[in-house]
Amino acid sequence: MTTIAPLKDDSALRHDLGDAPEEKLAVALDFQTAREALDLVDRLEGSCRWMKVGLELYCASGNALIETLRNRGLEVFLDLKLHDIPNTVAGAIRSVANVGAGLLTLHAGGGEAMLRAAAKAATENPSSPRLLAVTVLTSMDAVQMQGVGLDVTPAQQVLRLARLAGECGIEGLVCSSEETTSLRHELGRKPFLVVPGIRPSGSEAGDQKRIATPADAIARGASMLVVGRPITQSRSPGDTARAILAEIAGKG
Ligand code: C5P
Repeated sequence: MTTIAPLKDDSALRHDLGDAPEEKLAVALDFQTAREALDLVDRLEGSCRWMKVGLELYCASGNALIETLRNRGLEVFLDLKLHDIPNTVAGAIRSVANVGAGLLTLHAGGGEAMLRAAAKAATENPSSPRLLAVTVLTSMDAVQMQGVGLDVTPAQQVLRLARLAGECGIEGLVCSSEETTSLRHELGRKPFLVVPGIRPSGSEAGDQKRIATPADAIARGASMLVVGRPITQSRSPGDTARAILAEIAGKG
């Protein structure tokens, strides 16, 4: 049982998305082909609104798949994790501005100039996706960070990068459920926090280390949950998704 009160005022993006449970769940379509992705969409039986398209699927299916998903009335979270020189990242944002994605990720570690260029490029075109800055990948631990010259803990680095992203005009962040608590403590209710590594009670952790149930993640202050395998590998994806949505709504 968690004793942390749910936070509602993640105002940076929430006012655009609304407060319904369907706006707080993105299904990770981690597939190699559009056919597999669309089969899963069919099996969701209309339960979910946001589909996350990552590099694997985007490299295989590109903008055509985004258009297909949009034509089915779905929202697209484009998880490209951009990280390059400012001019190139700004150019990439301009290139995807009109494809119909609602959210787009980039690495906060790209630095201030890159983040400011990205925020400016997104602001210039109102059709641009809203930007989410990835702080520290959950696959990085303190040892791996030292290996790339970062003598700080992942938690310290997450906070530093979250602050930097906010100063550069990017209020959406991707973080783990554990960091959500400290980010809310340090940065308040404004940032829109997207949290992967979600596992409903009783499901397999797989390769995820820092996991939380949907209800706990929401109670700790997550604005949107990313769920992949618990839904995509379920025998009944629609039922699993509906159960997660009920948990998000506090009825689980
Ligand atoms: O299958 P699972 O629920 O673990 O999928 C999680 C999704 O969230 C995957 O698409 C993964 O790439 C993504 N993700 C993550 N950890 C991050 C950022 C994104 O697991 N730090």
